[in-house]
This record gives sequence, structure tokens and C-alpha cells, in this order.
Amino acid sequence: MDAYSDKITLISGQAHPQLSRDIADALDLPLANAHVGRFPDGEVDIKINEDLRGSDVFILQPTCPPVNDNWIELLLLIDTARRASAGRITAVMPYYGYARKDRKDEGRVPISARVLANTLTVGGCDRLVTIDMHAAQIQGFYDIPVDHLYAKPALLDRLSELNIVDPVVVSPDVGGIKMARGYAKPLGADLAIVDKRRISGSEIAVEHVIGDVRDRNVVIVDDMISTGGSITEAAKILRKNGASSIMVVVTHPVFCGPAIQRLRDAPIDKILVSDSCPRGEGWPGNIETVSIAPLLAKAIINIHRSTSVSVLFQD
Ligand code: R5P
Repeated sequence: MDAYSDKITLISGQAHPQLSRDIADALDLPLANAHVGRFPDGEVDIKINEDLRGSDVFILQPTCPPVNDNWIELLLLIDTARRASAGRITAVMPYYGYARKDRKDEGRVPISARVLANTLTVGGCDRLVTIDMHAAQIQGFYDIPVDHLYAKPALLDRLSELNIVDPVVVSPDVGGIKMARGYAKPLGADLAIVDKRRISGSEIAVEHVIGDVRDRNVVIVDDMISTGGSITEAAKILRKNGASSIMVVVTHPVFCGPAIQRLRDAPIDKILVSDSCPRGEGWPGNIETVSIAPLLAKAIINIHRSTSVSVLFQD
């Protein structure tokens, strides 16, 4: 990494232009004048129309679906900045795709998270900012600084405004207990867990609820909704066990495959998500979005000024 100047440049990929604009507005900075498009055959076509020499460059690109396209675009934006002699290049990936396969848990499978991490560092990325990674240990695949932020402060603020009476925070699986506890503590809520078993990438089975939810207002907390199987099956069994209302709080609304229909059909009163992924067509009306642009803007300015980012690390 070369020394970088006072100059700061925000470059937006095509993954989530609205979030990029919101971050730029929160920082009172413009987005770089850039063309990020496609050649007729689908290859990524990029041209940055301003000087990057020595600049502290932040590339704003969650790797939400289409994951592969967005990842390649991010790589080529990094390469563009590197070849234009940027002083430092930070990838800002609010949603970090390819966080599933972080180990070889059966024969003849790749460790995709490791391969993809290599592409960023070999491609010239100096630093990474992300939020609520599916598997936080993926930070270990990087030999560059990774700032892993939490959306909790933003989502919790909104949740507190809703004044939910006597809530029980529920984790939809054992792996999510730490995150659920992080919400239960400040809300003064009890904790419960759904015993979930994954059958395939999009099918799951739930058999038990550990904890008492009868006649209680339930808040299910999770890092992401992908196909919606985990959350909707959890909601069904919680309702069956007597929950009086069900609210869902999730950082990443990835929403792929049957997710939208499942969410429409599920016994869920309200869903609170961050804007780490763009709002798509046909989202049910009970979904409310809370912006993480102010949190990301703060992280960007702290990184640029070399002041602490860990003050934003409350989990
Ligand atoms: C599981 O470990 C995660 O925290 C999510 O619960 C899961 O990835 C969501 O996937 P889906 O919406 O497809 O059930």
C-alpha cells in the first residue's frame, strides 16, 4: 500500500446504488464520476472519469445477488483503482456473499470463502469493511485489516421505539444464540431457541422450541434471510407454541428463490431489515427497512482519519 493523501474517493458499483448515494450523502461527499456497465456479452465494463492518484478510495459494493456478477465487478473496480495509483483501496461490502463454505466439511467440496478472499487480496484490496458476516471467522482468510461491524445499534434503536411489551428474543438456530443474546440483553428480554435442522440449501425442518413463548411477544433475530426457510419455519412453530405476536429482525434481506412467497404466507406480524441489500420487487408490506448508511459513513470517516473503528463494534 502506498501512502494516501487527504483526498477521499467514493466509488459505487452497481450492486446497490441507493445505499452508495445514502453513504455519500451522510458523508457530504460526491460519488466518483464513473461508468460501471456491461459489454453486450455481459462482461463488466468500467471507466473512472476522475483522478485517483494517491486517493483514499472506498469501493461501495455489497456482494448480494447476483453474487458472482457483483463480486467480479468489485474485483475490477479494485483493479481500476490500483492501476490508477490509488493510495489505499478499501472494499465496503455491507453484505458479504460467499461466506457459507468456510471449511471442508465433506469430501470433494471447495472452500469457497477462502478462494474468494484470495481474489480480493491478490487483486489489490488493502482493507475490508463488512457487517454481520455469516461466519465471522472468515476474517482469518485475510491478511489485511477487516473491520467487521454490527447492524445491531441501528436495528435495536428502531426496535426500542416499537415498545414491544414483555418480549422474548428467539434465535432460529443454535448458531445464532450469540446474536440473539446481543438483542435480548439491552431489551431486558428472555431468550428462546428453535431447534432447526437443515435438509438442503432451501429446505429446513424444525422440531422443538427451547424456552417458553406462550402468550408472549416474540422477536426472532437472525443475520440473514436467504430462501426464508429458517425464519418462516421458526415463525410457524413459535405460533404453534402459543406466541401472541411475531416480529423478525434480520440484518441482510438477501431474499432469493421462494423467500418472498414464504414471507407473505408466514405468520409474521412485522419484519425489520437493514438496507445492506437493495429493496426488490414485490416485498411484502410488513417489511420495514432501517438504514445502515450512517454507520458505514462513520466507519469510512474513522478509517480515513485513522481514528478508532472499534467504537462501532458493539455486538
Ligand atoms: C443460518 O445459519 C443463517 O443464520 C440463516 O438462518 C440462514 O442462512 C437463512 O437461510 P434461509 O433463509 O435460506 O433459511
